[in-house]
Amino acid sequence: MLVNGVTQETILAYYDSLRAFWHPVLPASHLEECPIVSAELLEVPLAITHLNGKLVALYDVCRHFQAQLSIGEIRHVEGHGDCLMCPYHGWSYAANGQCVDIPQLGENRDIPESARVDSYHVQTKYGLIWVCLADEPIHDIPQLPDLENSDFLMGPLRSYDAWIASAPRVIMAALDDTHGAWVHEGLVGDREHPEPPDHKVHRDGNNLVVNFTMLQPDNPTITEEVVEESLREVSITTTVGIPNTIHFNIKALDTNDNHVTLIWQAVCPVLYNKTLTFWGSARNYDTDKLVWNAEFEQMQDTLREQDREIVESQRPWLLPPFWTKTELPVRPADLPLIEYQKWLEELGIVTRI
Ligand code: FES
Ligand SMILES: [Fe+2]
Repeated sequence: MLVNGVTQETILAYYDSLRAFWHPVLPASHLEECPIVSAELLEVPLAITHLNGKLVALYDVCRHFQAQLSIGEIRHVEGHGDCLMCPYHGWSYAANGQCVDIPQLGENRDIPESARVDSYHVQTKYGLIWVCLADEPIHDIPQLPDLENSDFLMGPLRSYDAWIASAPRVIMAALDDTHGAWVHEGLVGDREHPEPPDHKVHRDGNNLVVNFTMLQPDNPTITEEVVEESLREVSITTTVGIPNTIHFNIKALDTNDNHVTLIWQAVCPVLYNKTLTFWGSARNYDTDKLVWNAEFEQMQDTLREQDREIVESQRPWLLPPFWTKTELPVRPADLPLIEYQKWLEELGIVTRI
């Protein structure tokens, strides 16, 4: 059966290929505002809460008559402490997903073994809640360099509305450094200089690392004093945490200072064609200024919106394998994208036609 031009089988294979990775699902601050929150990852509904001081992620569908657990409440059950109680008939679930109380159960009746929901790996890092749906994650949460370095001042964590696109296409839009002249002209690209950067690409653990320099219009990422119509050479190290984080270390080359700006994104594959982006930044200069640079934030919002329109237009939703020759990447311009996609292909995170 075709769904939006993709077979159901292809979609399920894509979800399967991503289950063993950690994925960010929402900002940790949401749990400070509300004791139980819902999220969705790879079409799996999640109820996230704290039970007895421990962060817990449960399948958000009650085993009884499939009501949503995350609209329930936390209830104390004798012998089990805090449990997540379904709002419909009060079944209560412990952190491991086992139902430990059924109020309607007759006397001397045992709670059925099958009265349970899945419980998933969950942890907090970089201000985000991360979930892995598999029995065992194959890697740790991707490292985002220097985000925990006290020499850097962290900017606010931002969440963007879901894009109607697959997660690899969202990461590839950030990794693609040759579209700036066309999509973001005047901000991070210049059509007088379409020449490709001399990318150096290598793998390092679970990261794909790209080093290059390029000319960019002077913008608030490079300097606070934007000089009209001036181009500056910047050195960029891009680190992609396979498969769903990307981190940029950006430095202007025409100064002797050691000013570095970091920009990162972590994306959540909600559905095969729906992706959330969490976004942050940091800098190792002007660290005493508590107010973050509003112009810089505004520019990033503009860049994201310009990218969104393009990425949402791409088909097929999921990356086709190289052998289909659907895409026509050119070297050396598209080298980072080629290497990223090659790696995804090794992991089975592409359409299997
Ligand atoms: S549907 Fe959850 S307790 Fe009945
Ligand atoms: Fe872009």
